[in-house]
Amino acid sequence: MTYSFSAELKSTAADIERALDRFIAAGPLSGPGLPPDRLIAATRHGTLNGGKRLRPLLVRQAAGVFGVPPETTVTAGLAVEMIHCYSLIHDDLPAMDDDDLRRGQPTVHKAYDEATAILAGDALLTHAFGLLASDEAHTDPVVRIRLVAELAAGAGAGGMVGGQMRDIEGETGFLTERAIAQMQAMKTGALIRAAVRMGAILGGASDEQFGRLTTYAEAAGRAFQLADDILDVTATTEAMGKATGKDADKGKQTIVARIGVEAARRELAEVIHDALGALITFDTRADGLRETAKFFAERMN
Ligand code: IPE
Ligand code: IPE
Ligand code: MG
Ligand code: MG
Ligand code: MG
Repeated sequence: MTYSFSAELKSTAADIERALDRFIAAGPLSGPGLPPDRLIAATRHGTLNGGKRLRPLLVRQAAGVFGVPPETTVTAGLAVEMIHCYSLIHDDLPAMDDDDLRRGQPTVHKAYDEATAILAGDALLTHAFGLLASDEAHTDPVVRIRLVAELAAGAGAGGMVGGQMRDIEGETGFLTERAIAQMQAMKTGALIRAAVRMGAILGGASDEQFGRLTTYAEAAGRAFQLADDILDVTATTEAMGKATGKDADKGKQTIVARIGVEAARRELAEVIHDALGALITFDTRADGLRETAKFFAERMN
């Protein structure tokens, strides 16, 4: 059977949607007490019905390079997606980007309120790690611990959260092109990198394979945010399901702001070339990763 990227994208999104629907519910989220209905509802609003689910796709494809069956990557993919959804809920808050629309619907703080949106994000962050600690993530506890450490590094102060801080700081200062690239590698790249590396961990990659997949992931992550910044200038709100044309208004420091859309497009093509180059020694089982890198550059939303 020939490989179909759109079929894989669709089936990954369906798997993740189903897993989110099952997991973001009173039973699985219970602790010493029951989760409040309002918190569950807001968390469901911030996770279900939308989202391309590209990070779980990367977990699945990176694991697939080593022949790992897709269904055994869903829990790790779900954990990354929950961190991603939490990052979006918080990114949209008035104290951050102050956005009203996400994935074509009101942002969580609009549909509920700010306190609830903060807490929904907190819950997602916490339960993502609970999921990775469970034997659903992997039967071997050593693998589970490696997954936890990988996601923590990507999500934390030296990764996504740190990048968000640099992004906010950049609104009132000047960042060099290099500093912008560093900020973007953290706020967006770090989680994409973690997703690929988590797939490689599930696949039992050698150090050498792990290194090459990391090079791929760093280039793909850079491409992803370059495309996001280009789309902010060139795409419509309808296509994106979120407000566009906002980065310039907010004084966001982006590569597009620094070098313009055309030069950014050329850079995007170069970065995709780098991503594909890192995969050169892998066989056709890396075709999914290859197609995803191309999709990152060509995506329309
Ligand atoms: C948007 O990510 C936020 C960035 C990191 C640029 P996605 O474009 O993957 O958003 P969803 O999950 O598909 O909504
Ligand atoms: C978001 O970057 C990065 C994270 C949420 C970590 P943006 O602020 O550019 O993402 P959008 O454009 O709101 O989706
Ligand atoms: Mg932001
Ligand atoms: Mg934003
Ligand atoms: Mg953006």
